[in-house]
Amino acid sequence: VALEQNSHSCHIVAMSSETLNINKFRANLTAWYAKNERPLPWRLMWKKTKDPWVVWVSEIMLQQTVIKAVIPVYESFLRRYPSFQSFAKATNEEARQAVRGLGYYRRFDMLHRASIQLTAAKRKFPGSFDEWKELPGIGDYTASAIASITAGESCGVVDGNVERVLCRLLDLRVIASEPLYKKQFRVLMNELVSSGHPGELNQAVMELGQTICTPTSPSCTLCPVSKHCKSKKNSSQALNPMAKPKQQVIDVSLTAYCIVAGDQIGLIRRDENSRFLKGTLGFPMFESTLPLAAPKTKRPPSQSKAKKDVGYQALSEYRHAITKHRIRVRPFLVEADHSKPVTLKFTLKFATSQKTIAIEWHPLSKTEELLVSNLDRKALKQLNIYQSTTKKQTISNQTRL
Ligand code: ADE
Repeated sequence: VALEQNSHSCHIVAMSSETLNINKFRANLTAWYAKNERPLPWRLMWKKTKDPWVVWVSEIMLQQTVIKAVIPVYESFLRRYPSFQSFAKATNEEARQAVRGLGYYRRFDMLHRASIQLTAAKRKFPGSFDEWKELPGIGDYTASAIASITAGESCGVVDGNVERVLCRLLDLRVIASEPLYKKQFRVLMNELVSSGHPGELNQAVMELGQTICTPTSPSCTLCPVSKHCKSKKNSSQALNPMAKPKQQVIDVSLTAYCIVAGDQIGLIRRDENSRFLKGTLGFPMFESTLPLAAPKTKRPPSQSKAKKDVGYQALSEYRHAITKHRIRVRPFLVEADHSKPVTLKFTLKFATSQKTIAIEWHPLSKTEELLVSNLDRKALKQLNIYQSTTKKQTISNQTRL
């Protein structure tokens, strides 16, 4: 395998068939995977059904998300939507609710759109990498994974695990996710899967990265391809791949309002102007300019007047991350009257402000089902903790009386 050289890079990716015996490497890897393949639900489902839908759904869910988080959602999703035609019939809201908690929910909007598109055109599944790539939400990575697993097409998959394995194998000491290297890794993976079973080989490299060639302490003694590994030979595992420069973090402070009126909860529909989670149903949240290290206050300072209309109770703060945003959320329980419009009053840095917000009332007992993002679900958790402790206190006070 000869990879392009890059004159600008001090660590040139230049390999030849002398550096890596790819046939032996493939054979060692294949033998290991045949024995060690984990029985992950999408693998079992694919073997049983040969239905590309079960692979498609898994590859969308596995983008940016760890296997452990995917498994329970994957299983319930397929029970609910056993085909793309059934998913096409779901509303946008139902589509999001079926994957709640997984984050990066736009990928499921795309899966929904693609399902509607295929159903409307009365089409079957795409048959090749190029056809898969025409669907919304499917890039090189997902198209390669699906086409190699479902149709045996020789297209290599390159994800973070694969990048790490290849960097170590060749002792590259580079930032693996840079486009220059990504392109060359794809060449190498295409070569690897050009013989044998492409779907199995792709998954074998991913599996090796997930279980053996792990980021911090690789288990080289268990590795089926350690004898091919330059990094093992040079004891440079820790240098491969090089760490990415840290993405600049943006700190955001939000105040969230859990508006409760009896057995109803007040939620809002976030519109296209919302900074986060556009289109989702959630708790009203406003950016506050309070500094991150602000001391905890029992109530937002301006809320003495608001008390007349509605009561505010501070719940425990929590943190949440959305891409590069590090978000600190101060949730409040707001006890409201659901026959009146709800006006929230709060303090920004220099002024007291108020907003009358368009609320959708829903049964309190349905909240868990309705909230899609963990940004909202963490607020609900704080609300539940508060409500269960106050209930307990009320009960024990009554007992004392
Ligand atoms: N990550 C992405 N796709 C995967 C697969 N098919 N198996 C294991 N991990 C994966």
